[in-house]
Amino acid sequence: MDEKQKSRNYFNSHRKSRLAHGGYWRHDYRYQLKAIGRIKPDRLIDIGCGPGAFLSLVEDTFPDIQLNALDLSEEMISETRERLSDTAIVTVGDAEHMPFESEQYQVVTCNMSIHHYPHPQDALNEMYRILKPGGYLLLNDMDCAAPLRAVANRIFPRLPGGDVKMYCRNEIEEMVHSAGFCKVRYRKISPFSFQCVAKKAL
Ligand SMILES: C[S@@+](CC[C@H](N)C(=O)[O-])C[C@H]1O[C@@H](n2cnc3c(N)ncnc32)[C@H](O)[C@@H]1O
Repeated sequence: MDEKQKSRNYFNSHRKSRLAHGGYWRHDYRYQLKAIGRIKPDRLIDIGCGPGAFLSLVEDTFPDIQLNALDLSEEMISETRERLSDTAIVTVGDAEHMPFESEQYQVVTCNMSIHHYPHPQDALNEMYRILKPGGYLLLNDMDCAAPLRAVANRIFPRLPGGDVKMYCRNEIEEMVHSAGFCKVRYRKISPFSFQCVAKKAL
């Protein structure tokens, strides 16, 4: 079974878990919310939205933003649908081949999902494509000390969730630049995670 099928099956079976309900890495959401507050977008999309925990917080905090969500797992998308207001648009699909027109959103968020992607460069290229000029990518994922990362990357293929790779800072920065983004700002926000904010030039 390939990694995407593993992810889909795993997250389909996770819909009602307590972990999923609260969001998989909830303590990092505040950094993303802060950035959204600074940018003040009209339209935002969350890629790999999971059960919609992050977007429901965005909705509570910024009720005027039109919200969109994409996830590979049908069950996660159903859960997100139930948790958000009717104006939100939720879509089942693959981050590496998004079923969206170009230049649609002012902000793309992606929380704890990119380590599941076999071809993360394709996904970042897609995130760039669907952003409007002047729009922002707010990327959050795992990172930790190199020896621990090496162990995690050896274990990932044996896990059931379709985890592919924990990328180091250089890999993330290189891929984000290659996608076309400028003003790439990477920072560690906890011992186990990072936030990378990047802009699509006007
Ligand atoms: C660890 S969960 C994180 C969910 C959510 N962002 C959160 O913070 O709670 C990873 C999510 O990425 C989704 N995912 C994995 N591979 C994907 C892909 N290729 N395209 C879209 N979503 C994907 C999974 O279905 C899952 O919902």
